[in-house]
Amino acid sequence: MGTSTGPSTGTGTRTQSGTEAVELLTGAQLHALADEFGDLLVDIVAGGNSLGFLAPFDHAEAAAWWRARAADVDAGRQLLLAVRQQGRLFGTVGVALTDKPNGRHRAEIVKLMVHSAARGLGLGRTLLAAAERAAVTHGVTLLVLDTETGSGAEGFYRAAGWTEVGTIPDFAADPQGVLRPTTLFYKRLARG
Ligand SMILES: CC(C)(COP(=O)(O)OP(=O)(O)OC[C@H]1O[C@@H](n2cnc3c(N)ncnc32)[C@H](O)[C@@H]1OP(=O)(O)O)[C@@H](O)C(=O)NCCC(=O)NCCS
Repeated sequence: MGTSTGPSTGTGTRTQSGTEAVELLTGAQLHALADEFGDLLVDIVAGGNSLGFLAPFDHAEAAAWWRARAADVDAGRQLLLAVRQQGRLFGTVGVALTDKPNGRHRAEIVKLMVHSAARGLGLGRTLLAAAERAAVTHGVTLLVLDTETGSGAEGFYRAAGWTEVGTIPDFAADPQGVLRPTTLFYKRLARG
């Protein structure tokens, strides 16, 4: 999938950084890769990470969840990036755009995940940086996100230059159903 220039929505383009390729996917590409995306999401939920899903969460459910996202990607409501090494999908991130007239400069980073077998190798940082660049090309100057308070991802976002705003108690249930707090972050982006 993908060709060989910088990310742009819906074209399946890619950038190269080391041996990995970050690609911006179309809805059709996501549909075709839904099984691989399902494997990744099952790994994330099984690891106890709070990304909106409850256990038990099987592969069929995960793949179906991704297939249902394809319409948002094709409609331009979400940019979806994937990182691959030697052809295997190891991570993904979404940029959720808003159609609110007063908020088109703003977007949310959603569902950033790197497979447990590939953590600590820089793939998360590569994905997040590519998502920030893709957002800039869509006129976004402000990104926001939330992540479970106390999770490793908090340190990851701070290291990537994001500003912590505060925490909200009992924001979302983890995969075992236990309510956890979330920490809100933002990052301003320079215009492209
Ligand atoms: C958060 C996540 C995406 C990081 O991906 P990764 O590929 O392991 O991260 P990288 O290797 O790119 O690390 C980039 C930097 O963040 C730091 N970092 C990564 N994980 C960290 C952790 N658990 N605690 C503290 N710092 C961390 C790294 O040390 C590195 O900084 P350094 O270069 O100064 O050492 C990954 O751990 C993940 O998928 N977690 C589960 C899902 C999740 O929580 N997603 C976020 C939802 S909002």
